Amino acid sequence: MKYNTLAPFPKGFLWGASTSAYQVEGAWKEDGKGPSVIDARESYPEGTTDFKVASDHYHRYKEDIALFAEMGFKAYRFSIAWTRIIPDGDGDINPKGIEFYSNLIDELLKYDIEPIVTMYHFDLPNALQEKGGWSNRATIDAFEKYAKILFEHYGDRVKYWLTINEQNMMILHGSALGTLDPNLEDPKKELYQQNHHMLVAQAKAIHLCHELLSEAKIGPAPNIALIYPASSQPEDVLAAFNYNAIRNWLYLDMAVYGRYNTTAWAYMKEKGCTPQIAEGDMEILKCAKPDFIAFNYYTSQTAEASRDDGSDTAARGGDQHLQTGEAGVYRGSSNPHLKKNDFGWEIDPVGFRSTLREIYDRYQLPLIITENGLGAFDQLEEGDVINDDYRIDYLKQHIEQIQLAVTDGVDVFGYSPWSAIDLISTHQGCSKRYGFIYVNRDEFDLKDLRRIRKKSFYWYKELIASNGEKLD
Ligand code: BG6
Repeated sequence: MKYNTLAPFPKGFLWGASTSAYQVEGAWKEDGKGPSVIDARESYPEGTTDFKVASDHYHRYKEDIALFAEMGFKAYRFSIAWTRIIPDGDGDINPKGIEFYSNLIDELLKYDIEPIVTMYHFDLPNALQEKGGWSNRATIDAFEKYAKILFEHYGDRVKYWLTINEQNMMILHGSALGTLDPNLEDPKKELYQQNHHMLVAQAKAIHLCHELLSEAKIGPAPNIALIYPASSQPEDVLAAFNYNAIRNWLYLDMAVYGRYNTTAWAYMKEKGCTPQIAEGDMEILKCAKPDFIAFNYYTSQTAEASRDDGSDTAARGGDQHLQTGEAGVYRGSSNPHLKKNDFGWEIDPVGFRSTLREIYDRYQLPLIITENGLGAFDQLEEGDVINDDYRIDYLKQHIEQIQLAVTDGVDVFGYSPWSAIDLISTHQGCSKRYGFIYVNRDEFDLKDLRRIRKKSFYWYKELIASNGEKLD
């Protein structure tokens, strides 16, 4: 639809940006923090750093938040490291961990920045992993206990809660993210059992949040990307349906309606990986009602009919670690109409609008985008200048599409791109930068870690000040 006049961004729109604890904080074993599965990792892709120091946000959060405030952030989405709060995931509380996030939240509120808290972003406590991680139902109880502690300590100040970041990516790409146990013999069966446990844990947290905090809002935070069929050939269209169901709707149908998506269930049955459902699980899943949907969007994806000849798997974009495609289900495909970023990821702003529309049509809940952004090799030029025009361009094109979606009638209440400040990528080191603020370090040389405003910093500041009107 083409409009003569676009609807403005709603008043009070939450402009901000995002990070996650293990990718930005550093201080990996300070002040009583326990090891997470990320800290327990023994190897990293060649040439990339570990997460021990990251951007040293743990020690510099005041300086960082002052910069966020200077940009005019209305919101900041960050995650809490479970292992700072409960070092072994299930035992005693670590007062220093409670204090850190309490101070961070107060610092945000000092500048009227709304904290948006992700409760769990890939960094499961390693002590729980050693007891089976999400394969073990006890992890559901541990998560509920952890959630209760967060609500009790921060619920007076935090209104927006996100349960689990990108659960769907942990299931589909756990080996690239380092969150999947590499020793599993039949990973798929195990993964869908873990998935079920995470869904129950999420439902319990949603329920608890509503019980304890009357003013708070809570929602899931998957990565949702609309899947296009590679052509109008009916078999390609069906393949896209399959992948949409397995990648996207499985997660949101359960979060919102408390039921397994039909196609996803048929897929699990065919692959012999339907989860064991304990008595009472479906009731718990049914009665948890999220207040909104948060989702991360980087690009759309394309699928074609499976050829079922062992050649259906393709790397997403050109990122070898993120394979898509599965025999008999769909074949990973690329989209010839889209450009790619430095890392081979396709760029699709129009697909963003379609994704927003599709989610809203399916679920009729307010939406917030909790990640979207461009990873690039930024160059620090003389005089502390970073001319990241490509990032501005990416963000601008995506923000234009949000406004179109708003005009389409989609209820969007915030945009929190990735990332507020440079941090360590999940599997591609710190040279893959996303931030509005440059952190002066290399993969293996920490330099002075000083903060430098990029060109996009000034651009975003103006955009926020105009509530999304001033795109150029
Ligand atoms: C999302 C994650 O998958 O994408 C983030 O929630 C991640 O943790 C972001 O950093 C970008 O991906 P990557 O692999 O480039 O870091």
